[in-house]
Amino acid sequence: MAEVIAGVGVSHVPALGDAMESGQEGPASAVFEMFEPVRDWVEKLDLDTLIVIYNDHAAAFSLELYPTFAIGAAPSYAPADEGYGAREVPDCEGDLDLSWHLIDSVIPEGFDLAICQQLDVDHGFTVPLTVLYGKPEEWPVRVVPIAVNVVQQPTPSAQRCFDLGRAIGRAIASFPEARRVGVVGTGGMSHQLQGTRAGHINQEFDRRFLADIADDPANLAALSNREYILEAGSEGAELVMWLVMRGAMAEAVNVAYSAYHVPVSNTGAGIIALEPLLAQ
Ligand code: DHB
Ligand code: FE
Repeated sequence: MAEVIAGVGVSHVPALGDAMESGQEGPASAVFEMFEPVRDWVEKLDLDTLIVIYNDHAAAFSLELYPTFAIGAAPSYAPADEGYGAREVPDCEGDLDLSWHLIDSVIPEGFDLAICQQLDVDHGFTVPLTVLYGKPEEWPVRVVPIAVNVVQQPTPSAQRCFDLGRAIGRAIASFPEARRVGVVGTGGMSHQLQGTRAGHINQEFDRRFLADIADDPANLAALSNREYILEAGSEGAELVMWLVMRGAMAEAVNVAYSAYHVPVSNTGAGIIALEPLLAQ
C-alpha cells in the first residue's frame, strides 16, 4: 500500500537554486541554513517517490498552450531550457506506475489533467529537489510532476487546488504497491516580479499562511485568486500549489519544521515540513 509519509511546502526562487547548484551558498547564510533541518528530516524518511506540484514558468508550456492542470507520465524528466540553457541538475526518474494510477483515479473523479508523456521541468520543479537533496549525482527518489497553471489567466481557484489534492490523496491510498510517498507544493511565498507593485512582499500574510496551511487549510482554500494576488502579489499566487500538497495529506498533521526568511531575491521565502498525525 502506498502512503503519504511527508508533505513539504517550499519556495522555488531560481537564484537559490543557482547558488546551491554552483556551491555558492557562502559560509554562514541564514537563508541556506533554514533548509538544513528539512534535508536531515527527508533523508531519515527514506521516501520512494515525490509527487511535485509545481508551475511551469512558460518553459515547457507556452502561452499558446497552457493546461490548467497537467501530469507527467514519462520514464524521466529533463531540466527545461529556460532561455539560458538547462540547469545542471540530474534528470528525474519517473514513477510511471504511480503516474498512471493517479491519472486513472483522478480524471474519472472530474479533474481533467493533461497527460504529458514527454515533459521538461523548470526551476519550479528542480529548485525544491535541490533544497531537499542537495547536489547528488542522481536524485534518490522517483517523481511524478503535477503542473498547475498560475501564469495564464484565469487560473484555477485555491479551493479547486485543495480538492485536487484530496483526490490525489485518495488515489495514493488506493495504489496497491508499496510506496513511501512525499508530496511537495512549490512556489511563493509573497512576491511580485513585475508592474507597479514589483517587489511586493507581505510578511504578515506569509506567516498566517504558514500557520494555516497546517491547521486550517480550508480557510486558505476559501480565499479567492484576487485575494491571493492582492495579499501575496501576482507571483505569490503560486501559493495555491501548497494547497494541492495539503489536500493530499491526512486531515490532521504535525508540523515537523517550518521557517521563513525575508527577503530572498524578490520574495518572502518559506518552508514547511508536515507529517500525518496518526490517531493515538
Ligand atoms: C523569483 C521567484 C519565483 O518564484 C520565480 O518563479 C522566479 C523568480 C524571484 O524572486 O526572483
Ligand atoms: Fe515561480
